[in-house]
Amino acid sequence: MEGTVEIELQDFECSLAPQVKKVASVSWHQAYSGIYSKEHIDHFIDEYYTVEALCKCQDAVSAGDEFFKVALAGGQVVGFCHMGESDGLYWLYRLYMLPDFQRGGIGSRMLIAGQAWLRSRDAEEYFAVVHQDNKIAMGFYRKKRFTKYGLSGEPGEVVLRKSLKTSHP
Ligand SMILES: CC(C)(COP(=O)(O)OP(=O)(O)OC[C@H]1O[C@@H](n2cnc3c(N)ncnc32)[C@H](O)[C@@H]1OP(=O)(O)O)[C@@H](O)C(=O)NCCC(=O)NCCS
Repeated sequence: MEGTVEIELQDFECSLAPQVKKVASVSWHQAYSGIYSKEHIDHFIDEYYTVEALCKCQDAVSAGDEFFKVALAGGQVVGFCHMGESDGLYWLYRLYMLPDFQRGGIGSRMLIAGQAWLRSRDAEEYFAVVHQDNKIAMGFYRKKRFTKYGLSGEPGEVVLRKSLKTSHP
């Protein structure tokens, strides 16, 4: 991680959508290159990270219905964290850092901010879906005391659960 750069967290806004998509793409290729094909990853990013879809989140963030923070270094997006409620459960939808900025505690910072948002909504737990061969993410979630909850239904993917009843960050 680029040691001396100051990192600022701010709410996602629509103008940042292309940068968020870029970070997602770079991070996905790093994390999933041995798991999914390049074509699959590109297709996934193009489908789920359209500017239109991302921009819809801005209203939800403004209304307090979703948590979506970006990490900025020198005004550029280097990571992001997105949480929300779906079917009565709270989820960590997305957590991605550019490779050069990983392992510098920024993922932890965003997760802690997200957990404060969840607690402000009286959430007692939340969930995340991850591929079990994504070693970086699995290491991170283990450190954060997520535990295996079940299978997502997609090959290789597991659902992890984190209790918010403990004080552990
Ligand atoms: C997962 C991710 C968001 C973590 O963000 P980060 O800023 O790099 O994480 P932090 O620096 O806050 O790390 C916190 C702890 O997680 C664990 N961890 C982080 N990266 C790890 C790695 N590569 N291998 C093993 N453990 C790791 C460590 O215990 C670390 O604490 P330490 O540095 O004091 O040992 C980031 O690695 C990333 O973007 N990965 C690629 C995308 C991805 O897989 N996202 C999750 C999709 S489900």
